[in-house]
Order: sequence, then structure tokens, then C-alpha cells
Amino acid sequence: MQRIIIPRLGADKAWRDAARACLAAGLAPHDVTFGDASDGGLFDEVVQPPSIDAHDITVSKSFISLARSVVWHSDKDRFDRLYTFLHRAQRERRLMQDGADPLVQSLRNMEKAVHRCQHKMKAFVRFREIGDPKAPRRSFAAWFEPTHNTVEPTAAFFANRFADMDWRIVTPGVTAIFENGALRFALDLPKPDLQADAHEDLWTTYFCNIFNPARLKVDAMTSEMPKKYWKNLPESASIPQLIADAPARARAMADAAPTLPPVRTARVKDAATRSTHWDGPSEGMAAALSACKRCTLQAQATQVVAGHGPEKADIMIVGEQPGDQEDLVGLPFVGPAGQILDEAMSHAELDRAAVYLTNAVKHFKHTIRGRRRIHQNPDRDEIESCRFWLDSEIARTKPKVIVALGATAAFSLTGSKTAIKTRRGTFEVGRFGHPVLITFHPAYVLRLPNPSAQSDARKILIQDLALAASSVPRLASQ
Ligand code: URA
Repeated sequence: MQRIIIPRLGADKAWRDAARACLAAGLAPHDVTFGDASDGGLFDEVVQPPSIDAHDITVSKSFISLARSVVWHSDKDRFDRLYTFLHRAQRERRLMQDGADPLVQSLRNMEKAVHRCQHKMKAFVRFREIGDPKAPRRSFAAWFEPTHNTVEPTAAFFANRFADMDWRIVTPGVTAIFENGALRFALDLPKPDLQADAHEDLWTTYFCNIFNPARLKVDAMTSEMPKKYWKNLPESASIPQLIADAPARARAMADAAPTLPPVRTARVKDAATRSTHWDGPSEGMAAALSACKRCTLQAQATQVVAGHGPEKADIMIVGEQPGDQEDLVGLPFVGPAGQILDEAMSHAELDRAAVYLTNAVKHFKHTIRGRRRIHQNPDRDEIESCRFWLDSEIARTKPKVIVALGATAAFSLTGSKTAIKTRRGTFEVGRFGHPVLITFHPAYVLRLPNPSAQSDARKILIQDLALAASSVPRLASQ
């Protein structure tokens, strides 16, 4: 018997050439066996395929396409089975169409398994940045464990999609390396040490955001995203929680408002038919808020940013809307304006942990300029749509005093659009009779052109926050 070794790289062409030559030499399937270089040890005697002119061989297009996939299957018998088929097909012209033939069936199953594996690879390879993010060509690497030898036939997909960066996909066998627009392959490279990169949180947040609890079918999900891939997927850590929360979130979505268009019609209908704040169970409020589509801002934001703080608090501070960093992190006032606020609160002896911090609008409104997301003021419709949630937070938290930071918060809480400069430092009566102290937004301090104006505005902010803090015992004792 002749034994032919097919190299681990370029197996498709090597097998095709060898099989044609064996067929042309008149070798029957029992005269020849094929193995790949990884099981070379099993082959005591290795020969080159006979070199014979092979033009008389007939090979159908459908077989070529089948063989192109089956050669990448991990089954050691794949080449022998393909050769048996090829040999039989020289006499049985309609063999390919015989779906009941066990050999045809087994090859079709192998083809399907390879296609599935290629699909999983396209879906589950996760790159991490390994080079300088400012380099002209950024560099990424991924570790992936495919079931079959699918790196070579799938690499072109990644080369097309990520043509402007350098990347490598390392697997326990073959590694695809794409550098300066050229694709090559290497064998048995060590597993790279890949650290989580800055994109990972963003990606996980995005994944959680597009997860639709109402559509969850755990069996279908785990068959689409088999658990064996989870260990290399950053988003997989969130999956158990998403599954656990899905029933409550789906119920809340059903209870919450229908999707918008047109905004105005929905608003008029809302006003006539709906309660003014969340009156479902308190545990359902966060899920209903994250499913909210009262306005269209949820479509551009990474996630909803709910208020944060004790469920019952004497003081509530209301800002405008989450900024870039709040949108990524999912918490209010964690960016530059948050720093100014923190500083002012600590001078005013207001403990952040005791205060409920929130915003008039719960999604980040922005426009994209280059790589930057530039803040945009929410419009009246957006503020009014989101007031439902602010009112729900007020109803739940029952603050004794509310601080409005800037014009948007002041408008949402009092309905008045009068300029802040003329109102700051005074208490107004909120729409529900709450005392609302009006003051500057901390971002206003950041926008002031010179340090002395900034320092004055900081002092005013501290003074106003201190006034809010000192008013609480007074209010409580009335
Ligand atoms: N500005 C706001 O109004 N709110 C935040 O949460 C952050 C910045």
C-alpha cells in the first residue's frame, strides 16, 4: 500500500494533486492511504504521489466544492473517504446525487461541520489590541480553538474585513498572520498572553444592550454560541446574569411603553392614558428603564444611565444627561463634570454616598466628529419624555430637597426656562411641591474661559450645595 502524507498547510491543493495523480496511476482506494503530517508517526513508509499526466480524470464541480471543505475536517479518514468517492465517481457518474449512499452522506455531514465551524470562527474570534493604538497600522491578536482546521479557509474573510490593520489569529495548530496587507500561515505558535483591552468593556456593554430578553431561548442561544467558545469571549461573563434577569426584564418591557414613532402622537397619548411615573414593582423599574423607547436617544447611546444612590435619600441632585464617560460606565457623574461635582460636594460636606445622583435625561445625546462623541443638548421632547423616569425616581427616593444642576434639570423639575444666573442660590417649588434649589451645572465651570472665573463659579457651586445640605435638617424638623 502506498502512503501519502498531506502537509498541514495547503492541504487542499496538496490532496487534490495527490489524488489526481493516484487516480491517473490506477490506484484503487485499498492501494493507497492518505494522512496528514500531524499523524506522520503512523506512517512507516511515506511515498510521493506518482507523477502521471492526469487529464483524463473527470471530477464534477460539485465534488470539487465538497472536497474543498471536507479536506479541513479534523477526521483522520477524510482524505481516504474523499479518494474512495473520487475513485467510485469515475464509474458511478451520478454518485454525487445519491443522497442515500452512506459515503455521500458522511462527506456531506463533514462538509456541514466544516461550514458550521467556519461560521463560528467568523462570529467568535475576538481580537485584542497588542500594539500601539496610535501606530499607522494597529495590531491585534486573537486566540481561538476551532473544532476543525478552519483557519486557512476562513482567513480571507478576516483579511477582507480587517484589511487596514495587522492581526493574527493563533490556534492550537495553524496561525493566520496578516501584516501589511499580506496573509501567511504558520504552525504551532504558542498561545499569546492577551490582556483585556480598552474595547472590551465597550463591547460587553454593547452586547448586553442588544440582548433582547423577550426573545431569549436558552437552548437556541447555547447551540448558536456553544459553551466551548465562552472562555475566550469577553461578553460571556455577562450571559448567566442576562439569562437570570431575562424573565423580569421581558415582563417590564411588556409593561413599558410601545416603541415610538411618531414621538408627538405617543406623547399626546401618554398624557391622556398613562400614569406619570413608574407604578409597577420597584424591582422592575431598572429593567423597564433600560428597555425604554419613549424617545429615540436610546438608539445612539451605549446604555441607559439610571440614577445612583440610596433608594431613600434626603437629597437628590439632578444633572442634565450622562456624558461620554457616564455612557460607557453606566453611572452618573463619573467623568470630568463629576469630578468638579465631587470636589464641590466634599467642600460643602455633602457625602456622595448619602445623596441620590441622577439626570433629567437618561441617555447620552451626541454627535460623532471623527473619533469623538460630542455632547448635544437634549431637546424639549426628550426632556419631557424622560421626565417620567425622573418623577419615578423622586416618587421612590422621596428626597426632602432636590438640587437642579443647570438649565435642563431646572426645566424638568420646575417647568421654567428662565436663565439660571437669575435663579441660582434660591429655592423654587418643584412640580410636585418639592423644594428645588437651582444652581450651576459643574460643566459650566469647566467651560469658563479663565481660571479666576472658574474659581468664582466653583465657590458659588459649593455655597449652593452647602445651602442644600444645611436645609435638610431644617426641613426635617418642620
Ligand atoms: N453631566 C451631567 O449632567 N450628568 C452626568 O451624569 C455627567 C455629566
